[in-house]
Amino acid sequence: GKGQHRHFMVKEIFEQPQVIGDTLNTMLNPATRTLTLPAVPFDLGAVSKVTIVACGTSFYAGSVARYWIEKLARVAVEVEIASEFRYREPVLSPGGLAIFISQSGETADTLAALRYCKAHGQHTLALVNVAESTIARESEVALLTQAGPEIGVASTKAFTTQLVVLAGIAVSMARAKGKMDAAEEARLCQALAEVPANVSAVLRQEHRLREIAETIAPARDVIYLGRGTGYPIALEGALKLKEVSYIHAEGYASGELKHGPIALIDDHVPIIVVCPTDELYEKTASNVQEVVARGGKVVFLSDKQGIDRLATKALATVELPQVDPFVAPILYAIPVQLLAYHVAIAKGTDVDQPRNLAKSVTVE
Ligand code: F6R
Repeated sequence: GKGQHRHFMVKEIFEQPQVIGDTLNTMLNPATRTLTLPAVPFDLGAVSKVTIVACGTSFYAGSVARYWIEKLARVAVEVEIASEFRYREPVLSPGGLAIFISQSGETADTLAALRYCKAHGQHTLALVNVAESTIARESEVALLTQAGPEIGVASTKAFTTQLVVLAGIAVSMARAKGKMDAAEEARLCQALAEVPANVSAVLRQEHRLREIAETIAPARDVIYLGRGTGYPIALEGALKLKEVSYIHAEGYASGELKHGPIALIDDHVPIIVVCPTDELYEKTASNVQEVVARGGKVVFLSDKQGIDRLATKALATVELPQVDPFVAPILYAIPVQLLAYHVAIAKGTDVDQPRNLAKSVTVE
């Protein structure tokens, strides 16, 4: 049941410290600060290329993983929406690893992409939340998120637990490739081990996010911006808002703003900015100045350092914990979920059963 919560969506948002911890427990040794994936029946060090295929929110998890795997393991990664991938007869070279991300493990397009990759000589790895699902059974190896059943149609805890396993894959592949020394592994494992407590800290900002959500509820359009791993989080935030509040929302890479979307900005369009302190901070912060100069109403998601460094003060800020940039996308997923939820509450939509949506898309 929903326990003390009004909806499954918010119950599942608040389960995240627990289920992220459960997922970390399947691979992280906090004492030695090392990471061991459940058995993978091939050598991650020999993988020549990674192809990630998924739909919707799972696709955004894969989009974060691209940055992680390329940065840490120095292996080329392609990420693609399953419904496009399966029909374009993609060229796949031997020695490649194809990863299929699916909460349900039953998504028709993702399953078709898996069958295509198997037939074209790829190693196949499923990342699913349902152990006995078709995608898990048909893959060479299945890694599991420990999210537990996800009832709310809008995916929340499945997404963050997918990110945790994908972070583990990135670290394992980097080590197998000889691209990561023990000290770096220890640092990243430490950052991962602290994620559950940091997610709890973000959840304590719910009242602040609810206040902001009430100011967003009357909007017709909302823009989300981010860079690096913050970009897929912006896309995910926009998808979540569309799904549960029916407000039109778009996520953009911050650097694309001046190539078109900036024309949309006026004082009626809220702009949600995902901006942890990382090596791209200054770039995104300068995009914020451009938006504010055009009357845009910015909601700035950052940490203490990021908020203090921002020259413009005329905006709403939400302070998240200061963390290693590696784990920032996991944390920044939380405020965009809570914003979407509280906008939906303010609008009175059916949060757990949004119109026109199905939990599992088993038809093309
Ligand atoms: C968004 C959402 C969908 C799913 C997508 C893929 O909140 O739930 O976008 O992420 O339908 O589903 P799975 O992961 O089951 O393949």
